[in-house]
Amino acid sequence: MSSTVLTGIAELTTHDPEHPVLTDAALVVEGSRVAWFGPAAAAPAADVQVDAGGRAVVPGFVDSHSHLVFGGDRAPEFAARMAGVPYAAGGIRTTVAATRAASDEQLTAHVARLVQEMRRQGTTTLEVKSGYGLSVHDEARSLAVARQFTDETTFLGAHVVPAEFADDPGAYVDLVTGPMLEAAAPYARWVDAFCETGAFDVDQARAVLAAGAAHGLRGRLHASQLGPGPGVLLAADLGLAAVDHCTYLTDADVDALRDSGTVATLLPGVEFSTRQPYPDARRLLDAGVHVAIASDCNPGSSYTSSVPFCIALAVREMGMTPAEALHAATAGGARALGRDDVGRLTPGARADLVVLDAPSAVHLAYRPGVPLVVATWIGSEVVAGGLG
Ligand code: NIG
Ligand code: FE
Repeated sequence: MSSTVLTGIAELTTHDPEHPVLTDAALVVEGSRVAWFGPAAAAPAADVQVDAGGRAVVPGFVDSHSHLVFGGDRAPEFAARMAGVPYAAGGIRTTVAATRAASDEQLTAHVARLVQEMRRQGTTTLEVKSGYGLSVHDEARSLAVARQFTDETTFLGAHVVPAEFADDPGAYVDLVTGPMLEAAAPYARWVDAFCETGAFDVDQARAVLAAGAAHGLRGRLHASQLGPGPGVLLAADLGLAAVDHCTYLTDADVDALRDSGTVATLLPGVEFSTRQPYPDARRLLDAGVHVAIASDCNPGSSYTSSVPFCIALAVREMGMTPAEALHAATAGGARALGRDDVGRLTPGARADLVVLDAPSAVHLAYRPGVPLVVATWIGSEVVAGGLG
């Protein structure tokens, strides 16, 4: 097995409990895994030596929430919003029509482009949902497309009730929990539902999660995005890995998240793009809740693929320190996906890392909008940029 030593690291974020951040450090990778980290002066020899050139190295970003499989875009809707029209869940149906009209090849090429965009910005683990097909055929093919790019795929047939079921939402839930789930489950690891006024109520969300669980899919939930609702308590009660958005939380929600260990995934790109108030991450962190940050990349509420942008928003707008935001976008995302092999750079972890054109990770928030990612490695393979 070949080994590589990465030297010249001005600042190394490991998330190791004893040594979370080191300066003047080195990292040794054997095969696809981290084998050692420590002071540069103590670095062991390896087959290959790579010089980070006095830059910061951080764990690759774990983007635990995205909706990349879609056709078209909704730029006119965004422009109208910026002129004062409020965001509503119903916009999803516009994308459903465009997605159904797209070929498998078009969808695949589109996801490939977004995935490459993400890698260039440091994302190394990615969750992708269905949810713009909303028919048996279109949900299954959306997930088959997503599976070409990641194992973290999520069945979101319960995204919104499609127009053809507007008069009979119950029949749509029966379809989601029956034939649609049957067709989607082979391509999915997770099941999700949008538990919100205008989408699905708590009983419908519970039914979708239970049906998914019966097919071996673990649950996650969209909740409390547009207003307070019962979804967060449902997620905590079921011990789900994560509940996402969490923009409007009651004190009971916060207590339940703390007690259950369910991750609250915050999606600041949504508040940016919908002009809603940002969630208060400080309140969650101070209560002892596990927090993740993700892009929610989708054409309606958050068309950004950039985790660095989300980190900058979280620091500026949500009360997080730069270190907390980086942790949430790496280790937090890993926890939200039930993963312990990513989100950290400690021995045994996958060698997923990002080299920043900066002396410290603080620059991710300090220099918003600047393309700081010099190189992205997944399992020691360079997938974007390089140190050549
Ligand atoms: O995570 N909240 C529901 N789903 C997406 C938005 C989808 C859309 O507007 O197209 C989200 O924000
Ligand atoms: Fe989402």
